[in-house]
Amino acid sequence: MDKKEDKLKEVISHAKEYGYVFPSSEIYDGLAATYDYGQLGVELKNNIKNYWWSAMVQMHEEIVGLDAAIFMHPKTWKASGHVDAFNDPLIDNKDSKKRYRADVLIEDYIEKYRDKIKKEVVKGRKRFGESFDEEQFLATNPNVKRNAEKIDDLESRLSALLESDDLDGLKTFIEELGIVCPISGTKNWTDVRQFNLMFGTELGSVAGDAATIYLRPETAQGIFVNYLNVQKTGRMKIPFGIAQIGKAFRNEIVARQFIFRMREFEQMEMQYFVRPGEELRWYEYWKEKRTKWHKALGLGDEFYRHHDHIKLAHYANAAADIEFDFPMGFKELEGIHSRTDFDLRKHEEFSGKKIQFFDPELNKSYIPYVIETSVGLDRMFLAVLSASLKNETLEDGSERVVLSIPPALAPYKVAVMPLTKKDGLPEKAREIINGLKFDFNCQYDEKDSIGKRYRRQDAIGTPFHVTVDHQTLEDNSVTIRNRDTMKQERVAIDALHTILDEKVSLKRLLQQLS
Ligand code: GAP
Repeated sequence: MDKKEDKLKEVISHAKEYGYVFPSSEIYDGLAATYDYGQLGVELKNNIKNYWWSAMVQMHEEIVGLDAAIFMHPKTWKASGHVDAFNDPLIDNKDSKKRYRADVLIEDYIEKYRDKIKKEVVKGRKRFGESFDEEQFLATNPNVKRNAEKIDDLESRLSALLESDDLDGLKTFIEELGIVCPISGTKNWTDVRQFNLMFGTELGSVAGDAATIYLRPETAQGIFVNYLNVQKTGRMKIPFGIAQIGKAFRNEIVARQFIFRMREFEQMEMQYFVRPGEELRWYEYWKEKRTKWHKALGLGDEFYRHHDHIKLAHYANAAADIEFDFPMGFKELEGIHSRTDFDLRKHEEFSGKKIQFFDPELNKSYIPYVIETSVGLDRMFLAVLSASLKNETLEDGSERVVLSIPPALAPYKVAVMPLTKKDGLPEKAREIINGLKFDFNCQYDEKDSIGKRYRRQDAIGTPFHVTVDHQTLEDNSVTIRNRDTMKQERVAIDALHTILDEKVSLKRLLQQLS
């Protein structure tokens, strides 16, 4: 097993042990690719949602929220193109019986050439030391140039095959590249076939096509069909946005890697309606703004990179992923899409209702263009959890596991602990919690030695640990321990609120964005 697999396993087991994520219906041996969020998981999830909602809606006067139903009129999915085009090209290995997305197999193959370039850069940096100029090196080094040309060639061939839905061509390409199944190691492939990813179900008791409805595969369509309602009742002027957080469902054939790819998941999506012709400027604007939102969490800038799409979805004229360095490597965390007027135009066509905006400055009506930002809540959760989980060796040689979750997202902001269970210390600790709990999620902890309690709070990610001891009864002071530095200081109980507010409030995070 390689290091990356080890790290993912560690994250999964830590998440389960401390009540972050459980396999769904585990007493029945679980259900593939479905997970439940436990007592700490739901807190982290809510905090991520809050961070997103506040940054998008509260911080932008031109963005408003929405909570649309999961079930939608079946025509929605005809209009959006999902019935006809929401497919994955899949291929099976006959020996391992494992199923793969054909395009992902090829993209993983291409990634090997990117790794080669990275290795050349490392070598170059070593060789040239201080005077190393990465940009110049990338433009001139013959090995780098050869690999970059190879990547361009492979990507354009893949793009052409995907554009033309050439399934036979995809299979031939996989064979030609000599791609083997990672499990069986053989090239014994089936043909490539298309699978639609939507879950269908029946409305009421009537079976048959007319009554087939789908569980929404993206929340975005709920926003599009409400465009007129929101624009008119909210008296919104272009540019404006509608934001929504909600469940989405996809019958992912290759569901794997914990909560990275699930069949039931949550999206945080925002559609920004702009003037036709101005969409690419807004696309760049949102790409940058969303990247800043991620980086403000302080997990480390090196965890993020952009990936511009070569195959555009049926609705887009530009698209990029904000990728995150998950335990399995760099993968999509958020998509930024320039969706043109595709969706609104289609809904206009299928519903027969005029979906346009009268622009008083231009003195004309048009169907707005749309920039979409779409981030998976579960993927955000995995990003935060995996980047925060650390095994540290301390100065005295002992080990500790710490979950250094950004304080504003941590489930509990502070643990308050009486040094012993007697002499009025528990009562004093509860009194402190009663003063803080209106603003901060607090945990009371009196079991085990104080050292063990510190370790437990480190492991669940509580950023501050307050200990009540005998001196507290005399002078109303406590010790406050910082999860990350493990430093303790003695402070007045009265100062706790200000200290916590300074370090754990969402406000500080939001201020960094403006
Ligand atoms: N409305 C556009 C849209 O749905 P997408 O790239 O298919 O675009 C957007 O999905 C985001 O939703 C992804 O970047 C990812 O974070 C999340 N996502 C998509 N499929 C997922 C799945 N099966 N499990 C968990 N998250 C998923």
